[in-house]
Amino acid sequence: PQVCWLAPEQTAGKQKPYMYTQGQAVLNRSFFPCFDTPSVKFTYSATVKVPEGFTAVMSATSWEKQKDNTFVFKMSQPIPSYLVALVVGDIVSADVGPRSRVWAEPCLIEAAKKEYDGVIEEFLQVGERLFGPYVWGRYDILFMPPSFPFGGMENPCLTFVTPCLLAGDRSLVDVIIHEISHSWFGNLVTNATWGEFWLNEGFTMYAQRRITSEVYGLPYTCLEAATGRALLRQHMDATGEDHPLNKLRVVIEPGFFCLFLGVNPDDTYNETPYEKGYCFVSYLAHLVGDQSKFDAFLQAYVNRFKFQSITADDTLAFFLEYFPELKEKGVDSIPGFEFDRWLNTPGWPPFLPDLSPGQQLMKPAEELAELWAADSLNMEAIEARDITGWRTYQLVYFLDQILQKSPLPEGNVERLSKMYPKISKAQNAELRLRWCQIVLKNNLEAEYSKVKDFLHSQGKQKYTLPLYRAMWGGSETARALAMETFSATAPQLHINVQNYVKKILGLE
Ligand code: BES
Ligand code: ZN
Repeated sequence: PQVCWLAPEQTAGKQKPYMYTQGQAVLNRSFFPCFDTPSVKFTYSATVKVPEGFTAVMSATSWEKQKDNTFVFKMSQPIPSYLVALVVGDIVSADVGPRSRVWAEPCLIEAAKKEYDGVIEEFLQVGERLFGPYVWGRYDILFMPPSFPFGGMENPCLTFVTPCLLAGDRSLVDVIIHEISHSWFGNLVTNATWGEFWLNEGFTMYAQRRITSEVYGLPYTCLEAATGRALLRQHMDATGEDHPLNKLRVVIEPGFFCLFLGVNPDDTYNETPYEKGYCFVSYLAHLVGDQSKFDAFLQAYVNRFKFQSITADDTLAFFLEYFPELKEKGVDSIPGFEFDRWLNTPGWPPFLPDLSPGQQLMKPAEELAELWAADSLNMEAIEARDITGWRTYQLVYFLDQILQKSPLPEGNVERLSKMYPKISKAQNAELRLRWCQIVLKNNLEAEYSKVKDFLHSQGKQKYTLPLYRAMWGGSETARALAMETFSATAPQLHINVQNYVKKILGLE
């Protein structure tokens, strides 16, 4: 399942084939022989010979083109197996900073350069100031074909991202900041087992939002975090708070014949390690009570465990050692907030960070959603509110509110659609996802084609699965749309995504 071979039609340019690898979580064992566990780290080198007209790139600290279309790579820092990655395709690059370039198929390179020219270096510098030296040399970004299943993948030196990020206005740059944050949390200090995936993702979400608040300010960061919290709410509602995967520390078992029961580490890719993990790290910061002291702790933590793989017990023991006064106070066993409860009890986080600095951005969106949910619409009040200047995440937040209140009274969504073409005809993937969810939840059959078009245009797991779940939970027409769309797009989807969709549609 690891090595993905794409036919020319599956690329953006549709001219030449493409191959890419995706290691996380446990797929690299079918790429090369390895101890395929994040608890083992190694350096590597590779020699890759490709046909004329193709370029090879890897997650490596050095890269050299020799004669005969042969590329030689070396990763001189120890990394876990899941971070080894290779792409071969018709790709070209353009510089976007002193240690960064973008890679993409020729037809996308200009858009790619425009999206991130001159902005990456600042993120790296803020990251270094907060968390310590950036040890990986270069930080390059590779725009993948549309079927790439993730928003981003933090392959060292070379982050892989979905082409959906090419929004034209940098509005989805949080994904880049997220992957940059993995340079310290995940790639330097690594979870020793996939059962503690939150150590990678929860700390990375926290680091991402620290960088974001330095660069874009606290209000915007809180707004983005609020959309993350909405995703956690949706996820817990869909799976049930008590679901065993809604713990930070997950038990991963092979099950019988590796087929039934058991938990596949890939199944831990949901909102819990990200957003509940973020809440736990925020809780630790709250215990400390002083942002600069907590930042200093994070830097010391990275320095203490760099190039190692650790468990949450190591993290928490180091936290208590670093703050002896907190250890003395017994902060690990405050009733209701015990560290053990955080790790081992499923459900909603016992502590939520204060997002009220985002109110100035969230409040107008909440009020507008309220107006649109009314039984008889007060068009005067609605028209008085101008959304033309809203940031993408404000619109996302507004749409999440609408979705939560859906189905809306008969006719309201049609009017909303007409009133805001900026939303209903959006090209931005985050807006398209929300709009499609709203269309489905409100049975707006007139716009079902948008769901279909969106699912044909890209294959990101976090966009694809919620839409299939919504279709399958909907009307007969929605179910038929799901079947029709899946049979047309299945061959384009990453094998893991295909399998998850099959499960949703009862095809397995
Ligand atoms: N490492 C993950 C992607 C991943 C997780 C791949 C599990 C395979 C298994 C990456 O850093 C990530 O979290 N991407 C997010 C970005 C978002 C949180 C900003 C994504 O793809 O949605
Ligand atoms: Zn991540």
